[in-house]
Amino acid sequence: MNVIITGASRGIGRELVKRYSKKAHKIYAVARNEKKLKELAKEFKNIEPVVLDLANLEDVRKFGKSVKNVDLVICNGAISLPHSPSFTPFEDFKKTFDINFLSIHALLEGVVPNMKKGKIVLISSLASLIGAPSSMPYSASKRALNSYAQSLRNLLAPDIEVINILPGFIKTDMTVKNDFYMPFLMELEEGVDEIQKAIEKGYKEYAFPKRLYYLIKLFNMLPLSLQDKLLQKVAK
Ligand SMILES: NC(=O)c1ccc[n+]([C@@H]2O[C@H](COP(=O)([O-])OP(=O)(O)OC[C@H]3O[C@@H](n4cnc5c(N)ncnc54)[C@H](OP(=O)(O)O)[C@@H]3O)[C@@H](O)[C@H]2O)c1
Repeated sequence: MNVIITGASRGIGRELVKRYSKKAHKIYAVARNEKKLKELAKEFKNIEPVVLDLANLEDVRKFGKSVKNVDLVICNGAISLPHSPSFTPFEDFKKTFDINFLSIHALLEGVVPNMKKGKIVLISSLASLIGAPSSMPYSASKRALNSYAQSLRNLLAPDIEVINILPGFIKTDMTVKNDFYMPFLMELEEGVDEIQKAIEKGYKEYAFPKRLYYLIKLFNMLPLSLQDKLLQKVAK
């Protein structure tokens, strides 16, 4: 099995590399930090470090076209700007969309035509289900990803499975900087167990932890005026 994992140098991506290195023939481990990727290649088997900035969409397209016969693509690399009540500058907004959303199509444009069968995994977020004012670009980029996942799944069925995963809070560098209460915060291993289960069982869409997912679903059933009041309270 040939695998591509983006965001492989840290957090969820690194843990996925570690687990799939036991099963894969080759893993293309994509991230910017060359030193961390080299350490990863020393520690685990079958890793090919790919130093790539997902914000550089032309480089991502080139890489996608250069890889043949991939069986599993895990689009995991992403950024989240620090939560802020101020209006996001355009440059930061664009960067978030380039990395979290457009880089995925830039990669898959080259990879998909060379894939006969296999799985494409998109790592979205429960944050995609709520437009929190303090994380506007992140939530919007992940909401766009949910729509992309649905289109892609039905475009590529039945040969290529598309799996969209919506995690809640997991302890990584991305969440360590958050200074607000994160309900049902999970340890890295626990979160990646859930992600791996969704990949291996081939769930079309998988949101976890269920308690937080159902709370968000309930929130989304409230009248908009009440949702807005609550979101404005949290934003202040
Ligand atoms: N942690 C959570 O609570 C949580 C919850 C829901 C969803 N998620 C999603 O899960 C995925 C992984 O998150 P994480 O928590 O593991 O984040 P993380 O610890 O911050 O790691 C992010 C990874 O993405 C890579 N990355 C960031 N910017 C990049 C760029 N411009 N080019 C190439 N690689 C880049 C980083 O590598 P380099 O810095 O070396 O480039 C790193 O390997 C993301 O899609 C995130 O949105 C996380």
